[in-house]
Amino acid sequence: MRTIYLDYNSSTPVAGSVRDAMQPFLGDFFADPSSSHWLGRASQEAVEDSRASVAKLLGCHPTEMVFTSGGTESINLALLGSASQIASQLPSNAPKHLIISAFEHSAVTQCAEHLQQQGWGLTVIGCDKNGVIAVDDIENALRPATRLVSVMHSNHQVGTIQPVAQIAELCRSRDIVVHTDASQSIGKIRTLVEELNVDLLSFSGHKMYAPKGIGGLYVRAGVPLQPIMFGEGNESGLRPGSRNVPHIVGLGHAARLIDTALQDGADRMVELRDRFLARLEFELNQSVVVHARQAERLPNTLSIELPNMKSEQLLRHLPEICLGPVIDRDIEPSAPSRNPTLRALGLLAEAGQRTIRVSVGWQTTEEDVDRAAEMIASTVEVLRV
Ligand SMILES: Cc1ncc(COP(=O)(O)O)c(C=O)c1O
Repeated sequence: MRTIYLDYNSSTPVAGSVRDAMQPFLGDFFADPSSSHWLGRASQEAVEDSRASVAKLLGCHPTEMVFTSGGTESINLALLGSASQIASQLPSNAPKHLIISAFEHSAVTQCAEHLQQQGWGLTVIGCDKNGVIAVDDIENALRPATRLVSVMHSNHQVGTIQPVAQIAELCRSRDIVVHTDASQSIGKIRTLVEELNVDLLSFSGHKMYAPKGIGGLYVRAGVPLQPIMFGEGNESGLRPGSRNVPHIVGLGHAARLIDTALQDGADRMVELRDRFLARLEFELNQSVVVHARQAERLPNTLSIELPNMKSEQLLRHLPEICLGPVIDRDIEPSAPSRNPTLRALGLLAEAGQRTIRVSVGWQTTEEDVDRAAEMIASTVEVLRV
């Protein structure tokens, strides 16, 4: 059975040259970069090379880049670290308020709920039917006590790109810290911190052809953060613990690959994504519902509703095709979808249950998308009767 992997938004394979770049640091070059002997200095140089490569990809200064264990930790550091900093500068009874969108990754949602339990006011902003947050809704939600806003740059389920730069502009004059989760953007579209004008930007290695367990946080120069973990200080005092040199090297190499391949790669993703949809509709002899079709979307992402069939059922029949998450398993069909993005789009559980997410990537071929579309269409046809 040959697997067809169409789940790049969940995780990307580690690129071959990324693995090669990491190899020496899993072998002879094992020293701790904090050690002052020559072997330690070799590790330190490799870490700083990587930092420079990642910073170049994001258009920031290397000193503004903090390595973490992944997207989740970056988000925790961004939100909880800035919340502690903000709280430390205010009288203990001063009101504090933050705003997030309704379709954030659970790391953002749960950090926000944690802050709410600690007394922060929380406003969750919904999106329009195209999966895009209205800047006006953010503006209307701002209060004198608003200190923190977090809106993801691109959505993992439907791929919509959010107006982060405009949101950041609103917040800048009001001295509000702005974080964006760009985990789904890096490696798919050009993502420059200068254009986005944010204070904090988090991302994850395993969405950009580097391994799991590595990620980063951009911290704009002058934006104070408090650490959320304690121990031997590294990463500008924000992230204690010995650094994961092989993974950091892998992330740096992936950043260099992306920097050179991004434009051609994005054009290819669009072709593959649209080819899959056209083929599926041709084979089914009908059009399918595409979520957020009218919005600006990631080039590789397609969230669609299967006609008359639950995605769970489809995946049971096609174990060789790896697709996006299956959701809403046991839920009343007339209830709102349990997937936060589909719920924010106004979808009921019945539509959520028929939804699949196709996300293509660097290793996807035309043959993959053609075969997947054919197999999905014929399974839908067979199970329909
Ligand atoms: C949008 C988004 N943010 C954050 C994360 C978390 O990243 P990590 O798996 O590196 O912790 C993910 C991964 O699923 C994601 O899709």
